[in-house]
Amino acid sequence: MADNRLVLDIQRSVAPRVPGGVPEDRLVGMAQAATRAFQQVAQWRDDGKLSFAKLPNDRVLLEQTQQMVKAVRGQFRELVVVGIGGASLGARMLCTALAPKPAAMKVHFVDNVDPRTVGELFGRIDPMATVFNVVSKSGSTLETTAHFLVLRDLLRGRFGKKGYAERVIVTTDPDSGPLHAIAEREGLRTLTFPKDVGGRFSVLSPAGLFPAAAAGVDINALLDGARAMMDRCSTDTVLSNPAALLATVHYLADREVNRRVNVLWSYSDALRPFTEWYIQLWAQSLGKRLSLNGTEIHNGLTPLACTGAQEQHGLLQLLVEGPEDKLVTFLSVLDHQAHLEAPPAQDVPEFGFLGGMDFGAVLEAGRRSSELALQEVGRPSLRITLPVLNARAMGELIHLYEHAAAFAGALYGVDPFDQPGVEEGKKIGFGLMGRKGFEPFAEKVRQSDQNSRWRLT
Ligand code: PA5
Repeated sequence: MADNRLVLDIQRSVAPRVPGGVPEDRLVGMAQAATRAFQQVAQWRDDGKLSFAKLPNDRVLLEQTQQMVKAVRGQFRELVVVGIGGASLGARMLCTALAPKPAAMKVHFVDNVDPRTVGELFGRIDPMATVFNVVSKSGSTLETTAHFLVLRDLLRGRFGKKGYAERVIVTTDPDSGPLHAIAEREGLRTLTFPKDVGGRFSVLSPAGLFPAAAAGVDINALLDGARAMMDRCSTDTVLSNPAALLATVHYLADREVNRRVNVLWSYSDALRPFTEWYIQLWAQSLGKRLSLNGTEIHNGLTPLACTGAQEQHGLLQLLVEGPEDKLVTFLSVLDHQAHLEAPPAQDVPEFGFLGGMDFGAVLEAGRRSSELALQEVGRPSLRITLPVLNARAMGELIHLYEHAAAFAGALYGVDPFDQPGVEEGKKIGFGLMGRKGFEPFAEKVRQSDQNSRWRLT
């Protein structure tokens, strides 16, 4: 593979080679829309909205992260990351895909306010050996604050104010928000959640880097990989810019052949959290009521994700024979850095071919067969290949998708950096739970519950 870098292969997404794919002449003729999209991305960069692209070169945030890791490593064995959505998914994908085994620090994640899961975790960990990282850009997210209050109580009760303060690190806006104010007041250590970077684009900031580095992930290599992909995405030519090409194929698959469901099919268990991160990135960046000029358009692509050979026995049936509304992207890892060989079994002659075969090869054969099954019936797919799943490759992959989400936003003419729908949901939640100032939202919910004649009891 060319100098060991990520490869994006779109050949099975293009018609006539694959009849249900994007017509080749439309792909080649994208010049005008792409020019506008490149201009829009440049405009966002000038307006300071493309800040995720500055993170791989931010020495200050890197230094801050590394210092904090140094400070906690000798003192604590485990780390609990408390955050939700963009404040958690990035760190989780880095730790799952890249942390050495055993990890330098064992990292746990608390996001959903499920009393059973959270209660079990808080009951299981040894608070003496554990440091908590509370991550929230706004510093006012309901679920994160609820978890924080529980752990604050627990730590204060056990270690007093000083011991509590030693065990909590807050990653939040550097100068505003309730969590920032609490950290100042209570003497908690802080890391910066950059003001101009939204949650789903924050993985290469301390929000993602600190938990990853604490677990032992090589964050320098991760950032190297992101920079390498940034270089590849710096050309204004769609056909040689991987992020622009990825976005363009998705855009044209929607506009030209009505494929609005995007399935990311990873053939690596370690990449499962990456696919969850992708779902958030794609859904929140492109799902918008309004266009950039304020027209109501209800834009969006629906991301789905699945993992591994098991879906050849599940989802594949739908993909091959169900509605023709999907574009599948296969995510393939060539070297899993783990080997398991099938033994020869003379007594099972039907499977003699398996003898000596590495499981990585079995997995890749499964992936190829899914890809070909789709091609056979004229259904399009893309392929992204990582030569090996390491920090550098992850950096490439992350930047590829972040940049593609931004470019797709530009193609559709929507703002990929806001999330008004999520904000509205947060307000309704506050209203429901009786927060002062949010009464109108509670009232809306009460009214919506009133008309219940369709409810079976
Ligand atoms: O990507 C996003 O904007 C959201 O998923 C947020 O990350 C999530 O709502 C948590 O917000 P906050 O970091 O303010 O706690």
